[in-house]
Amino acid sequence: MTIRILTTTPLIGPALADLGARFPELRLAACRSQAWNEALPSAQALVVLLSDPLSEADLDAAPNLKAIGTCSVGINHLPVKACKERGIAVVNTPGVLTDATADLALALLLALTRRLAEGEALVRSGTWQGWALDQLLGTGLAGKASGILGSGPIGLAFARRVWALGMTPLFWDREGRGGEVDFGAGRAPRLPLAELLSLSDVLSLHCPLTDQTRGLLDRAALEGLPPGALIINTARGGLLDEDAAIDLLEVGHLGGVGLDVYEGEPHLNPRWLLAPRTVLLPHLGSATVETREAMAHLLCEGLAAALQVIP
Ligand code: DGY
Repeated sequence: MTIRILTTTPLIGPALADLGARFPELRLAACRSQAWNEALPSAQALVVLLSDPLSEADLDAAPNLKAIGTCSVGINHLPVKACKERGIAVVNTPGVLTDATADLALALLLALTRRLAEGEALVRSGTWQGWALDQLLGTGLAGKASGILGSGPIGLAFARRVWALGMTPLFWDREGRGGEVDFGAGRAPRLPLAELLSLSDVLSLHCPLTDQTRGLLDRAALEGLPPGALIINTARGGLLDEDAAIDLLEVGHLGGVGLDVYEGEPHLNPRWLLAPRTVLLPHLGSATVETREAMAHLLCEGLAAALQVIP
């Protein structure tokens, strides 16, 4: 039978074209464009990005829907509970962006501690006067502790990276488990949140945004970090109380913040642009050619499998 797939994106690489060859009725339309609105009622599958939030109303408008695929590991932009109730499969891309995201978290950390943006700006300004003993002094990482929120694949991959720098990884997970985590290069304790925060020279966020984790790092939690602590967020902006983080940067309690994700992105809290000791990136965590191709492939395979079962 003809399967109608409605996609907001051509994805990266050949995966979507391959999917189109298997399920010939595949249409490309920007989310909520007129073409999208017209095609939605007959669509049996949707392909979207994390920048295409869908609601239950979209499901109401798509009574034939059997599957939604998102080219992301995060699914907080989808009405997952309603999909489950209606028997609509949700397909995402876990696993294939683990290294790319952990790499970017590490890049943010090193950019902060070694003041890369300031150094680059100095050279490009044409005003650099040459090497100086006290120029743009950063801070080292060896011997420091890195709290990691989330002990999923990306948290573990980040742990391996900071461990290689001589840091001590510490974990917290939203299930509240204790015990130890085997992160592949060693073992590290899982701690209660308050204890983990109190010990974290660096805190890196690697947990999904859910009703439970929204606002996890509120003002009180941030105040529980040691003075001078650094925060790295490559997960989701909604995990962090951004105004509280900026306040604590301004008064010097936080030593720095490196962000790849923001609440309400791409519309940033304007205070970020003026906040000291920050590195701000435009949601690049999975942005390598290899990763985006792998995400497309995994997504299309998952969608094909979900669509095979349509009677
Ligand atoms: C995801 O996949 O959820 C990342 O935020 C972007 O790739």
